[in-house]
Amino acid sequence: DKGNHRHFMEKEIYEQPEVISHALGQYIDFIENKVNPMTAAIDFAKVPSLAISACGTAYLAGLVGKYWFERYARLPVEIDVASEFRYREIPLSPQSAALFISQSGETADTLASLRYCKEHGLKIGAVVNVKESTIARESDAVFPIMAGPEIGVASTKAFTCQLSVLATLAIGAGRARGTVSEAEEKALVRSLAEMPRIMAKVLNNIQPTMESLSRELSKCKDVLYLGRGTSYPLAMEGALKLKEISYIHAEGYPAGELKHGPIALIDENMPVIVIAPHDRFFEKTVSNMQEVAARGGRIIFITDEKGAAASKLETMSTIILPNVDEIIAPMIFSLPIQLLAYHTAVFMGTDVDQPRNLAKSVTVE
Ligand code: M6R
Repeated sequence: DKGNHRHFMEKEIYEQPEVISHALGQYIDFIENKVNPMTAAIDFAKVPSLAISACGTAYLAGLVGKYWFERYARLPVEIDVASEFRYREIPLSPQSAALFISQSGETADTLASLRYCKEHGLKIGAVVNVKESTIARESDAVFPIMAGPEIGVASTKAFTCQLSVLATLAIGAGRARGTVSEAEEKALVRSLAEMPRIMAKVLNNIQPTMESLSRELSKCKDVLYLGRGTSYPLAMEGALKLKEISYIHAEGYPAGELKHGPIALIDENMPVIVIAPHDRFFEKTVSNMQEVAARGGRIIFITDEKGAAASKLETMSTIILPNVDEIIAPMIFSLPIQLLAYHTAVFMGTDVDQPRNLAKSVTVE
């Protein structure tokens, strides 16, 4: 049932505040402002490293997770798309743990990577939406994302729920490893607790801008997305979402790679979507934006209030989100990215929930 929405995708975008708040309730003690004790199946205090493997959007959630595990838990992370991971011949230590992220829990390459790690003696954790899935069944520890059924082929609420669960796991791992103090944990948990309310507000506010901007995007042949740090996986997620439902060619790049190739593409016909909250990388990303502007590129700048005040560059459009703590920025910044792709596809008249050539669950390699 789509409720008042035209498509399941739209419904699932708007469901995010509710499902995330529900999911976080399972992982966090909001009275003590602490992450709940984690399953004993994976001892994050002892593991020397973590391997993450997944496909598509789930892989991009894992990439954000890598930044978090390394930053907060000082835990080295190996990550690759599952179709590469399984054949990469990674030297894996049996003392390590592996995490598999999958909405459906049935993706063939992800499952094959899981079995590969199992054979090498690693402890297996699964971040899944479908708790009865094969990936969940074959894991030592299951971390459900509790997004509820996701019908639209383009993953939206599963992505932000995966991120939310990964954030709590990274904080929990940080506590176990002594790299996150009790005070830091409290502060991080408080930020996570605020997220659903902020998401609801953002969803309410940005819709009209997203719709008018999408009209412009629907006229384009190519779109480039740029981001640094955790905004880099978001840039790739934005490009993936746009191409899969609107069939417009899009690429996501780490902003710092601009000069190493994609800058040659810049002209007035290819909008450049820059995802840049006012974080540690902001100034660097702004200098990449200047390079785009100097070559006549049209910029769609997705930033926050501080970022908008700090940049004097002329843009085609600036989307201003509220200032939020760094840990929740990837979830908040996912919203304009999802809505842009959604409305562009609606303008293009594509089959938004069932895009051509794609299946919701990819059970062959
Ligand atoms: O069920 P999974 O999370 O394992 O699926 C992985 C990918 O097939 C999936 O995320 C795909 O990339 C989506 N259609 C992206 O929106």
